[in-house]
Amino acid sequence: MHTNTASHALLLGATLQLANAIALPDPTPVPAKVEARAPLVTPAAIRFEGDRSYVLDKRNILSDILSGVDGIAQSWGSVLGTDLPSFFTDGIPAWWQDLPTGSQVMSSLGINDDDLDARPTEVLNIPPYANWTDQGWNVRFHGNVYKVPNISESKLNDLANVFLIDTDIEDLPPDQQAQARNLTQSIFIVQQGHENVSFYLEPAPMQGADGEPGGGNAITPPGGSQNITFPYETTVEGDFDAFVPIKNVSGGGLLAGNETNNVQRLNVYTDGTLTGNATAFLVPPQGITFISDIDDILRVTKIYNPKEGLLNSFARPFTPWMNMPDIYANWSRTLPNDTHFHYLTTTPEQGTRLYMDFIYKTYPGGSFDTRPLNFSDVPNTLSIRQYLLTKIFQTFPTRKFVLVADTSNSDVMKDYPQLAHDYPNQVQCIFLRNTSATDPEDFFPYDTSGFKGLNNRSYMFFHVPDDLQGLDIVNGQCLNQSIPQNVTFSRQDEVLGIHGAGGKLTGSATLSFVVALAAAILVVL
Ligand SMILES: *[C@@H]1O[C@H](CO)[C@@H](O)[C@H](O)[C@H]1NC(C)=O
Ligand SMILES: *[C@@H]1O[C@H](CO)[C@@H](O)[C@H](O)[C@H]1NC(C)=O
Ligand SMILES: *[C@@H]1O[C@H](CO)[C@@H](O)[C@H](O)[C@H]1NC(C)=O
Ligand SMILES: *[C@@H]1O[C@H](CO)[C@@H](O)[C@H](O)[C@H]1NC(C)=O
Ligand SMILES: *[C@@H]1O[C@H](CO)[C@@H](O)[C@H](O)[C@H]1NC(C)=O
Ligand SMILES: *[C@@H]1O[C@H](CO)[C@@H](O)[C@H](O)[C@H]1NC(C)=O
Ligand SMILES: *[C@@H]1O[C@H](CO)[C@@H](O)[C@H](O)[C@H]1NC(C)=O
Ligand SMILES: *[C@@H]1O[C@H](CO)[C@@H](O)[C@H](O)[C@H]1NC(C)=O
Ligand SMILES: *[C@@H]1O[C@H](CO)[C@@H](O)[C@H](O)[C@H]1NC(C)=O
Ligand SMILES: *[C@@H]1O[C@H](CO)[C@@H](O)[C@H](O)[C@H]1NC(C)=O
Ligand SMILES: *[C@@H]1O[C@H](CO)[C@@H](O)[C@H](O)[C@H]1NC(C)=O
Ligand SMILES: *[C@@H]1O[C@H](CO)[C@@H](O)[C@H](O)[C@H]1NC(C)=O
Repeated sequence: MHTNTASHALLLGATLQLANAIALPDPTPVPAKVEARAPLVTPAAIRFEGDRSYVLDKRNILSDILSGVDGIAQSWGSVLGTDLPSFFTDGIPAWWQDLPTGSQVMSSLGINDDDLDARPTEVLNIPPYANWTDQGWNVRFHGNVYKVPNISESKLNDLANVFLIDTDIEDLPPDQQAQARNLTQSIFIVQQGHENVSFYLEPAPMQGADGEPGGGNAITPPGGSQNITFPYETTVEGDFDAFVPIKNVSGGGLLAGNETNNVQRLNVYTDGTLTGNATAFLVPPQGITFISDIDDILRVTKIYNPKEGLLNSFARPFTPWMNMPDIYANWSRTLPNDTHFHYLTTTPEQGTRLYMDFIYKTYPGGSFDTRPLNFSDVPNTLSIRQYLLTKIFQTFPTRKFVLVADTSNSDVMKDYPQLAHDYPNQVQCIFLRNTSATDPEDFFPYDTSGFKGLNNRSYMFFHVPDDLQGLDIVNGQCLNQSIPQNVTFSRQDEVLGIHGAGGKLTGSATLSFVVALAAAILVVL
């Protein structure tokens, strides 16, 4: 039986194997040395101490949970929720935790500086947004500088197998093998600190008509070609991330932010590599920005089902979720020219080229945010979404935002309504796909307490993309009245039959949850 809890426990297993694969090239298993993994932030019912091994603790988890669930009206707190470690509750797939970096990659692969010196420097250039200021356009360049070590195909297969549950890469079709190796290779890279980066900018030609993938309302500026040197060296993790003002080149330059309603698009090429291309979006001060999560809302991931989640991320071609591309294309086509699309995933940046490739082929063009490397530890993993959301809200203080995601991310469930409370004039709509109501594989409850006090027409829990048709987003009509909302302002889950009710489990819900949880935990024991 699969539950979200199961997924996290299983994923944790995969992560532990990965940790072993990296930290212990000598195959002798030394489980006692495996440390508690990063997302274990929440203390309580389950005792995770830094000096104790998670592997050794797993039996305690099971007994703690079972001993806590002996009655019917068990309170949520001690069964799931605040007392459980966050990998059980926070919807952050553990396979994206603790990816190896720099020297870990080199030592696990047995490569040295000389091997690496011979490799070219590559750059992940994450598609930036820019705001209009007194100094002109201000572009947030961000990305990572790295080298890709030469790893043999058989070694890549071994490394990829660590991520796949019950599946050997050699049993996959050739295109899926290639993707699994591609993603694995993109994780086993060596980031380059203290590097300078520079870019060449030029007007981006139109990419298809309005509303078609890559169209996204944006226009080509009359000019604006220029060279830009990023003012700082990369961080020790190889990252760069800062706003840099760009020039209005004389003789037909960029349109000023207050003389056009359109988003303008520039191509950005990174000097010295062909791997650092991106499109920059110059976004006028007024208008609507869609901020969209990607997994389980724009594509089928099923992060709550570990085997599927891993195959859907590492091997299978990225697949749009139902007819969501049509909904976005319609928004791109019919909403005013000032509409901007921004894609925000908390997947670590190393794994995101496939995400960008998929989005640009399937959804309106737009800027991107991913999880930077210095946000890989506790509690940063859990705060990254809020950090990135706050940054874009503060960059565009007079724009309105439409926030889109699914209910299986507890950071979304906390951060989206919180932004609506903190920036009441900026959050236009919140759209959440209720995976707990529609996907029988997702047993993971979601918490609606943050929505208390918000205008109930400003958000919607929905089932299928067509539920989003016919809304009047510009005028704040974000609710399709034909979709019963059942919002209890507490923890809830339609599949489990949990509807708040003072935060108590019903008898049958307790039973099915505990059975599922026990099964999940036994799998990793
Ligand atoms: C546009 O913005 C610039 C810079 O803030 C300002 O100097 C200029 O007066 C503005 N123009 C209009 C028409 O508001
Ligand atoms: C990578 O290493 C293999 C040997 O393991 C070698 O044959 C190949 O030429 C190397 N590739 C590059 C690009 O250095
Ligand atoms: C980066 O550029 C700055 C400013 O030009 C320079 O002082 C610094 O030495 C450069 N760093 C490297 C590693 O080249
Ligand atoms: C950018 O720099 C390159 C050489 O580094 C130069 O050839 C080119 O003319 C510059 N372009 C602009 C628009 O300044
Ligand atoms: C990560 O680095 C960025 C700059 O690249 C910085 O603004 C941010 O504060 C850092 N975050 C953490 C958690 O260190
Ligand atoms: C750039 O210069 C042109 C021509 O002087 C002007 O029309 C335009 O508003 C300027 N754009 C910006 C971004 O300042
Ligand atoms: C980046 O752009 C350059 C110049 O147009 C092109 O030659 C190169 O193939 C592009 N790189 C990728 C990965 O598409
Ligand atoms: C929207 O932008 C197009 C150019 O892409 C322009 O022709 C049209 O007039 C603009 N509409 C409005 C209302 O500004
Ligand atoms: C992996 O796939 C991405 C997206 O299709 C592509 O840009 C990249 O070049 C591939 N990397 C390798 C190492 O094949
Ligand atoms: C532009 O963005 C920067 C960085 O977030 C922010 O500090 C600044 O206030 C913004 N400027 C305007 C005019 O909104
Ligand atoms: C397309 O979007 C417009 C405005 O955003 C909306 O009025 C219309 O109902 C949408 N059409 C569909 C089929 O959703
Ligand atoms: C509301 O609850 C009903 C009954 O459990 C369920 O069928 C429906 O999917 C729920 N609606 C949403 C939007 O989750």
